[in-house]
Amino acid sequence: MDGNVVVVGGSSGLGKEIAGHYASNGWDIVVTSRDADRARAAATEIGGSTTGISLDLSAPHEIGARLADLGSVRYLVVAAVERDENTVTDYNIDGAIYLSTLKLVGYTEVVHALLPRFTNDAAVVLFGGLAKDRPYAGSTTVSTVNGGVTTMINTLAVELAPLRFNAIHPAIVGDSPYWEGKPAEVLEAVRTRTPTGRLVTTADVVHAVVFLLENGSVNAVNLVVDGGSLLG
Ligand SMILES: NC(=O)c1ccc[n+]([C@@H]2O[C@H](COP(=O)([O-])OP(=O)(O)OC[C@H]3O[C@@H](n4cnc5c(N)ncnc54)[C@H](OP(=O)(O)O)[C@@H]3O)[C@@H](O)[C@H]2O)c1
Repeated sequence: MDGNVVVVGGSSGLGKEIAGHYASNGWDIVVTSRDADRARAAATEIGGSTTGISLDLSAPHEIGARLADLGSVRYLVVAAVERDENTVTDYNIDGAIYLSTLKLVGYTEVVHALLPRFTNDAAVVLFGGLAKDRPYAGSTTVSTVNGGVTTMINTLAVELAPLRFNAIHPAIVGDSPYWEGKPAEVLEAVRTRTPTGRLVTTADVVHAVVFLLENGSVNAVNLVVDGGSLLG
């Protein structure tokens, strides 16, 4: 297979499952964590030909050096996030700067740093989320940076053609590590307002990411994976 699959934020959750999908299909994988030991442990768990490296998106000046040793890249998934519950009434400026840097500058800098390594048919998927469409008290920064991802893919797709850039915006993924431990009534409220009558699963998200990466004509698409929950 031509080039690696790189998953930034591949040490847990959705990113790790995407890495696992490609590892089990024989690809060379690179997963990242902020912590070198966690990255190595995740790589071992994922198995196949998987390498773990440390990288912190909130320190964008260091990203280029962290990615300097990578080989060619066919598929890049940037899934990393740090949750930020941050109301405007009780505004945490440091938290807002951290998440804004991580998502807006960090995501972009990963693409910039990997530019010399992308194959001609490379594709990139960036993770957003639905807080931009379904805001809640405390989601101002999350909603704003997810909104930023929806437009970031357009500029990247125009400037860096023929590379393809798409974004995925899942609803709450019920079996993801972040949500599976939450109170049942919280998840049940989401399930009942979802027209499909079920929560989005990790497998649904992996399937959608594979589609965005591998369909050669899907470009600059913001794909909502929510079972129609925005209608509810
Ligand atoms: N789970 C959901 O229901 C859901 C719904 C909608 C959207 N999403 C989006 O999907 C993506 C993945 O979510 P998830 O639930 O799978 O997340 P997760 O399990 O919390 O994993 C987050 C990943 O991001 C990495 N990370 C955190 N801070 C980082 C930083 N400063 N620099 C680099 N990496 C960092 C973590 O690595 P270490 O902690 O090892 O450093 C980990 O690999 C996120 O963008 C999230 O917003 C998730």
